[in-house]
Amino acid sequence: MRRKIVAGNWKMNGSKDLSEKLVGSIRFEAESLDNGVEIVIIPPAIYIGDVLKQAQGALSVGVQNVGQWQSGAYTGEISSDMAKDAGCRYVLVGHSERRQLFGETDELVAAKVSSVLFSGLVVIVCVGETLEERESGQAESAVSSQVRTGLSLVAQGEWQNVVVAYEPVWAIGTGKTATSDDAQTMHAAIRSVLKDMGAPADEISLLYGGSVKADNAAALFAEPDIDGGLIGGASLVAKDFVSICRYFPAGT
Ligand code: 13P
Repeated sequence: MRRKIVAGNWKMNGSKDLSEKLVGSIRFEAESLDNGVEIVIIPPAIYIGDVLKQAQGALSVGVQNVGQWQSGAYTGEISSDMAKDAGCRYVLVGHSERRQLFGETDELVAAKVSSVLFSGLVVIVCVGETLEERESGQAESAVSSQVRTGLSLVAQGEWQNVVVAYEPVWAIGTGKTATSDDAQTMHAAIRSVLKDMGAPADEISLLYGGSVKADNAAALFAEPDIDGGLIGGASLVAKDFVSICRYFPAGT
């Protein structure tokens, strides 16, 4: 049975005040959820302590990025060991904003994935095609190559700590979502690449991200290969984020 996850990536948004109020209300609302979904809050690293305090063990917490090393003279970086020590369970790696704005390559993503798995945390590896790639019919091959290289260093016993998030770049923060059919097609393609790599593909959770809102979450989450969502903008509003979590079908 695959883990069902709805994760909120705050990106570079939030404050100490928001960390307390928002997470407090999400935790309160989440208490009435009975669909087995795991809620993950991924705030800027500096607010991890505040978020953990409010999460009170009822919500999981993650970081948005880590360096590929475990410690050392790397000013400004944090390591996956530190994320674990601080109480995180998840680490996001290879978000398209990291790839596009900070030049992260698939090889760097692979090194970070290794480091996260070495620390014993769960990695959420983000992949997704650009608009240009989609329009030129290259979407599947672009995503497939991100998956193959980004996950190339995962050892056989480590797959249970791997989650893949498909986030088409053109759908992030634009209000344009992939149709549930297109998202399902890509998720099925990712699963078949994972199978081909020798991974236990049917046990790996695949999340969809890119303008997921309360009004499109139900259709996306009803698809057989979509095991949850990675939410940006809507994760900053408790009511919207919890509505998205609610749309997860019970008993799946
Ligand atoms: P939006 O939900 O704001 O489109 O962001 C998606 C995303 O990038 C989550 O990581």
